[in-house]
This record gives sequence, structure tokens and C-alpha cells, in this order.
Amino acid sequence: MIAYVADSRTFFLQGPRSSYVLAVDAHGRLLHLHWGGRVEPGSLGQVAIALDRPFSPNPLPADRRYSLDTLPQECPTGGLTDFRSPAVLVEHPDGTSALDLIYESHAIAPGKPRLVGLPASYCETTAEADTLVIVLLDKPSGVRVELSYTQFRDHDAVARSLRIRNAGDAIRQVTRVCSASFDQPQAERRLLTLDGSWARERQVTIAALRPGVQGVLSRRGTSSHQHNPFIALLDAGADESHGEVCGLALVYSGGFTAQVEVDQYASARTQIGLDAPGLRWALAPNAVFQSPEALLVWSGDGLGGMSRTCHRLFRTRLARGKFRDAPRPILINNWEATYFNFDTEKLVAIAIKAKEIGVELMVLDDGWFGARADDRAGLGDWVCNERKLPGGLRVLAERIEALDMRFGLWFEPEMVNPDSDLYRAHPDWCLHIPGRPRSEARNQLILDLTRPEVSDYVYLAVSTVLRSARISYVKWDMNRHLTEVASPAHPAGEVHHRYVLALYALLERITSEFPDVLFESCSGGGGRFDAGMLHYMPQVWCSDNSDAICRLSIQHGTSMAYPLSSMGAHVSACPNHQVSRTTPMRTRGHVAFTGAFGFELDLNKLSPEDLATARELVVEYNHVRRLLADGDLHRLREPSDNQAAAWMVVSPDRRQALVTYVRISAVGNGPISVLRLHGLDPAARYRIGEEVIGGDALMAIGLRLPPTHDFQSRTWHLEQV
Ligand code: DGJ
Repeated sequence: MIAYVADSRTFFLQGPRSSYVLAVDAHGRLLHLHWGGRVEPGSLGQVAIALDRPFSPNPLPADRRYSLDTLPQECPTGGLTDFRSPAVLVEHPDGTSALDLIYESHAIAPGKPRLVGLPASYCETTAEADTLVIVLLDKPSGVRVELSYTQFRDHDAVARSLRIRNAGDAIRQVTRVCSASFDQPQAERRLLTLDGSWARERQVTIAALRPGVQGVLSRRGTSSHQHNPFIALLDAGADESHGEVCGLALVYSGGFTAQVEVDQYASARTQIGLDAPGLRWALAPNAVFQSPEALLVWSGDGLGGMSRTCHRLFRTRLARGKFRDAPRPILINNWEATYFNFDTEKLVAIAIKAKEIGVELMVLDDGWFGARADDRAGLGDWVCNERKLPGGLRVLAERIEALDMRFGLWFEPEMVNPDSDLYRAHPDWCLHIPGRPRSEARNQLILDLTRPEVSDYVYLAVSTVLRSARISYVKWDMNRHLTEVASPAHPAGEVHHRYVLALYALLERITSEFPDVLFESCSGGGGRFDAGMLHYMPQVWCSDNSDAICRLSIQHGTSMAYPLSSMGAHVSACPNHQVSRTTPMRTRGHVAFTGAFGFELDLNKLSPEDLATARELVVEYNHVRRLLADGDLHRLREPSDNQAAAWMVVSPDRRQALVTYVRISAVGNGPISVLRLHGLDPAARYRIGEEVIGGDALMAIGLRLPPTHDFQSRTWHLEQV
């Protein structure tokens, strides 16, 4: 619900337990009044105190207490009296960037309009949300900024984006765009970011805010392994299950910035938006620049509450298509089983064994096309290599289907190896700066998708393969970051963002043409794990690190924002290929359960005991897969101290739950630990194995855990009686 109180020109965006409140001040400037626990329209007291502050200049000479430098703003700009970080910068023909945005109009309507060309959250009926659009105008230039806010009826979540419209008569350059920006007098908060590297994605960092600018960004052209386009602000004292937390996710897969600037008066300006290095987007008269969407999620129940709202929203109103709600197949992927060294017989042998233990889909990874014997050649030549796979993909797919399994295929469509027929025919089709060397990474260059002929080629190549055999799943990989980001088709300052837009257009085209194919995104593991990609592909290969113990912190961090059903997680071989660790098969399975579950090893090489355990894992998973896909996650013990990790998933009706505990590092003659459960019905009784225990006791007293060995895991399946 969105309410407008006309006499105070105040907007109340009302979630079930939260409010986001804005007001237009006496001079027409849009102020941020509140984002937090719910307040009813009309109940606000004094929310801003105007003071005469030295060195904060005054746009109104008569009022020394009025300065943009101290006002709590919703859409700050630069070049005038605010010295803090702008949310929007537009360069005028004279080289200045001043914008004095004054309220012009607003409209409130049921539902949520689509964002043209960009991924975004959506509604299925207009009753699910209301959208407020506030139009601000910079009179001297004619530039309008249209701020859009959608409040979801059932979620404490607001979707925010903006459009910059050039109603002036000269070309202007957009140089900075934050999808969300707000000022709050709460600098004693802490900032959560998800940071890491390849094979170590989305590790949780929580740091106290300090004066100045702090935050994370990616200039890599993708959302990146290094930082994720998701941050959270934690109130003092907030933790996993208590206190107020605000999460911000950018629905975008390119470079981004997410920052908090604590100013001289301990006010914190929080911003999230795209960050294209050297952004200069030419805005002709009457043209519009659409920002990506930011999703703002509020929780009064700590990080856990924030994550559960993000999960429900991302799962049901961001992801789309048949597999949004359908169970995801248990798959086996041949990458860690064979790398590039495979042929049809080897693959079929893996599939036969996989079928025996209940696996449903066989995925052929990298190496099936062109002259690809290793990572030096072949990208771009999407034609099956019949020396490896006689008869082509059709024959292999038929043999897999004859086992009553489905067949899936890996692509890396955005890339080209210099050693490829494609590159030899079109050496100018990659991003490059004429006259400069082309930097390779993993021996590859990036196709310039902003050129229609290049995008059309990629579309044709991928769709032709998808039509050539029964292919039920696609893994869409992307194994390097963008350099030499230039294109003959566009001004240099536009190419970063245009690349992302062109990628989205391509994904829209391909995923809508093949609605029965399950698409999984990947970028060297989780290098493009973001809300933007989830709109096209409901699952993402979480990390190239498949070690169960490393995965604990990777999946823990990922779960801050992203639903379990979105995290590709596989049981792999031991010693593990990334860190050489040996863990029990059961633990590998239990950790992979809390994702889109699968295997990535040659089952023919397992001992009979491990194979039997793998079979039992599939049986156990089948018993709880619906619960894991739709349930609410409660993190019980975070792995950061390297002692143990524990979490549970509770079905939406609280009738079932799965609790998982993994011991990381054992201690000699250790204590009995207690695991207090969460999210159950306190009035209900739950069967756990032979016992029946009250939900109240499970939450207040908990489960007693005897000492366990390194890397051992346990699950408990709870069912209401
Ligand atoms: C990186 C991916 O993350 C891996 O799973 C695998 O598909 C390789 N690329 C193949 O090159």
C-alpha cells in the first residue's frame, strides 16, 4: 500500500511491518524521512532539524539553515550545495553538471510496470504491489528525473529505479546513476558486504561504519567474484535473528557500486547503482536513460529475516519461467570427472552409473565443439566435434535419453578464442581498442555483443545447437572480465553498459525461445551471481570450489541474499580438486543438498561404500527436495570460526524441516553442543527419528550434539505429528 498525505506532501510506502517514507519539502526538494519499522501515515513528529551549519552553503540567501549539504535527500545531485556523493550526474553542453531537482508531479498506480530492456522484479496481479512515480525537474536544463518505487503488498520490500529524461534541447551526458540513494542519521550501523575471489566467492564481511566513503564496487564489466552487488546495513545490536537490517540488491550483472558515505554530522548516505568505468551516456533531446532496479529489503528479525524476504522475492517475483516453480533435476556434470578428455563412451558410462543411483540429467561441459582440446582454442565455433562425439550431439543425447535421463550442454557464448574459425573470419568482432594489443584471459577475448551482427551470430549458433538435439538444460558460462572495452558501434563511455544490455537482450531472446530448457548461469563459478542473471536463469553455479568445507562459507554468504534453489551445488571427488581435502561422501551430499543438487565426478571410480552412500543421498534428497526448494532458511551456526556450521530449512506451513549440521574442526574430548532450532511451530510436536519433541522444546532447549569428528555431518528430518 502507498499512501500520500497531501497537506504534508508525504508518501508512505507500507510493507507488512515496514515503512519507507518520503516528503517534498517547502522548496520542492524530495527528502528521505524513514526506512524502517512501520509507522502509520500522519504519525510522524519532527523528522528533520534545520541548523545553520558552517561551510554548508545556502541556495536560498534568506535562510542560512537550508543547505542541500545537510538535508536528508532521496535523489542527490552534484554541482550545487551538496558536497556528498551524488546519485545522478548529468553533464550539460557547457561541461557543468549541476541539477537542481524540484518536485513536479507524482502518480500512484496499482501493479508494477516492466522495465524496458532490463531485468526486474514483477507482479503477477496488480493487487500484489503499488507503484509510485515522482517526477523531479531541473528547470534550467529541462532534465527530468522520474523516480519509481514499487511497494510489495506481502513483502517488506521496495523496488526502486529511476529514469533520466532529457527534455532540454541539447545533447547531455549521463555520468553517474545510482538506482537507490537515501540519507539516514544512523551512522552507528554496520555494513555487510559479500567479498572474495575466484573459488572463494561471497565471504561475509561486516564492518562498523566510519566517517567517509566506504563500500564495494566492480569495474570488471560483470558483477564479479570479488564483490557482490548486495549490501546490508545492520543496526547496532542486530544479529542473525534480532534487530533491524536493511538489504540492498542491484538487479544488474555488470559493474556496480554500493557505498555508504558517513558525513560530518554522522548521517549515512547509502547508494547502489551501476558503475561503468568512464560512463558517458549521450542523452539526445527527448531521450531517456533507464537505471537498473534496486531491491530494498527491510527486516526486524535480523539478517535471517532479511534473507528470507530476499529469498521469497527473488525466487517468486524475480526468477521466471517454467523452472521457477518446477523441481530442478538432480544432475551430473562431467567437468571434474573428465575435464576436456572425454568421448561418447566415457560420457555414457558416467551416465549409466548416475542413472543407477537416481540422477536425472547428464550435463556435458566444456570441450564438445570446434577444435577444443584444452582452453586454448575453439570458443566461438559452436559445432560439435565429431572426432570426440561420433554422430554428434544428437546421438549422444539419444543415448542419454535412452537411459531415461535428460541431456544438458555447456556453452560460453560471449567469448572467442583467437585460435578459432570465428576469430579468423571476424577478427574485429571482439571488444578491442584499435591500435592497442588485445589482452587475453584464459586465452580468450570477449565478443562485442553490442554489434547486432555479433549478437545475431551468437543467437544463431546457440539456437541451432539447441534445435539439433534433445537438450533440456544449458550451462551459460563466462570465463573472463572485460578489458579494452570499446566498440566501433558506440561511443567508448557507453560500451560497458551497452554490453550488459545486449547480453540481456540475447538472454531474453534465447530463454523465451526455449522455455522448456533449464538455464544455469556461471562465470568461472559464481563470478556473475546476481539478481540480474536470476531473472533469466533461476540457478547459478555457485563456485568452482566444490570442496564441501569451503562451500560452507561460500553458500552461507550467498544465502544472505540468494535463495537455496539458485545455488548450483555438486558432490565432487576426493581428494578435492581445488583444495585437496578429503571429506566423507555423506557430508559432500548434505552440503550440496542446500542448493540445486547434483554430482560432478566419475561415479565409476567410487568405492562400493561411497557409491552406496551416493545412492542413499539421492533417496534422502528426494524425500526433502520440495522442502529445500520452497522452504525458509534459518542459519543456526555460521562457519566463520571454523568449528561447525548448521542451518535448517522449514516448510512454509511449518509442518516439515530439515536440519543440517557439519563439524569442521573437531576438538579432543569436546563438549556436547546444543543446537537451538528456529522457525518451527511452538505449539506443534515434531517427529525426529524415533522421538516426538515439541516445537517449543526444539527451539528453547534444542538438540544435543555429541562430539563429532572432522568434516562429519548430520541431518535431522522433522515432521509434524
Ligand atoms: C568454468 C566453470 O565454472 C566450470 O564449471 C567449467 O564449466 C569450466 N568453466 C569449463 O571451462
